[in-house]
Amino acid sequence: MKVSKTAAVILAAGKGTRMKSEYPKVVHKICGVPLVCNLIKQLRRNGVKRVVVVAGYGKEHVIDAVKDLGVEVVEQKEQLGTGHALKVCSKVLGDFSGNLMILPGDAFIEDDRILRSFVSAHNKSKAELTVLSTELDDNHGYGRIIRDESDSVTAIREELDASKHQKAIKEINTGIYLMRSPDVFTALNNVKKNSKKGEYYLTDLIEIYAKSSRKCSAYNIKGKTEIHGVNDRAQLADVHSILKKQIIRKHQLNGVTVLEPENTYIEADVQIGRDTVIYPSTYIEKDVKIGKMCQIGPFCKIRSKSTIKDAANIGSFVEIVRSKVGSKTNIKHLSYIGDAEVGKGVNVGAGTITANYDGSNKHKTKIGNDVFIGSDTVLIAPVKVNSRAKTGAGSVITSGNDIPAGKTAVGVPAKVR
Ligand code: UD1
Ligand code: MG
Repeated sequence: MKVSKTAAVILAAGKGTRMKSEYPKVVHKICGVPLVCNLIKQLRRNGVKRVVVVAGYGKEHVIDAVKDLGVEVVEQKEQLGTGHALKVCSKVLGDFSGNLMILPGDAFIEDDRILRSFVSAHNKSKAELTVLSTELDDNHGYGRIIRDESDSVTAIREELDASKHQKAIKEINTGIYLMRSPDVFTALNNVKKNSKKGEYYLTDLIEIYAKSSRKCSAYNIKGKTEIHGVNDRAQLADVHSILKKQIIRKHQLNGVTVLEPENTYIEADVQIGRDTVIYPSTYIEKDVKIGKMCQIGPFCKIRSKSTIKDAANIGSFVEIVRSKVGSKTNIKHLSYIGDAEVGKGVNVGAGTITANYDGSNKHKTKIGNDVFIGSDTVLIAPVKVNSRAKTGAGSVITSGNDIPAGKTAVGVPAKVR
């Protein structure tokens, strides 16, 4: 069985009380991406195509977060435990025959490769159920992996139900499993409500399988990588900074110089070309494309849906949003460029502002190739500055009063000379 014969179920119906939030835990973002979406993208990168998300608490927020990712969402109306959460998927997955990977929606898996090796270990062992385990010194709150004398896994014991001896076990359940579908849905009927917590535990399946001599195994990844569970804002910040580091490292290995990684913020899904230098305190949002040999920063903000072409120079205290900036164009100081198309070889003087918003709508500014925008120009959109035109320092170019090619406009309001 290949990874492609694997479907995933993400359990994301819980509230995440410790986040102290109006929103469900899994929609909190790391590097601009909701936790649950980060997990979905990671599964897809590793060949798991079909993904089912179980939503409950704040489900409209979860549905909104995943709407473009082509996943199926199943509602768990009442949160009756992890076993129940999987059971509500039996309708949509009843026809699926293959491996089911089950993951908690708040999981952050540092290393991609672990998912692939988990699947191949499961297939190789011929187990009916494999749990991804690890070893932690601080095992507090996790289910402990119970093994018999021959090292076979016989149960997972939740902390609440564990004996003193069991509590000392360092090997714990990460909450990630591989099980066979559709068999698992039949087995789930045998899970009884836990008397202490009043929940149906998914982890009870291990004992049920083991008792009927169906092989269970644990794939212990101790030391290989970290799997984090995000339960509060501090853990959210921890995984955010791990992901941020990974994103920046990827750009560095692709030939981008990032002078101070600690003081640089780059979200997921950003493209940056070779030999571009990112100076400190630069903030780049998702869906930004930056070409080769650009100078970016220090102290600049490039927001979503912006494209910066090769050898452009974006300097200090410049904000760019939903705009295109042509190659070899300089926007070096104190500017706001919003909803604009700026051509090649343009010089945008210090303090230039595109006034794109009239209080109800946003409008476009177009600046042609080789234009010279004098310092402190305000361009009131919609407006067009044609190629090779110039504006005088301090001029206000009013909307609709386009500057013809090669002409100079000066004054407030600006007039073409
Ligand atoms: C669970 C495991 C524990 C494991 C730990 C790893 C059980 C009984 N215990 O404990 O062995 O070490 O995860 O983090 O499974 N959820 C639902 N619906 C529900 C209940 C939970 O969708 O009715 C979701 C939650 O949103 C969460 C995930 O399932 O994403 C795990 O639930 P949680 O309550 O955090 O389980 P733990 O107590 O952490
Ligand atoms: Mg948990």
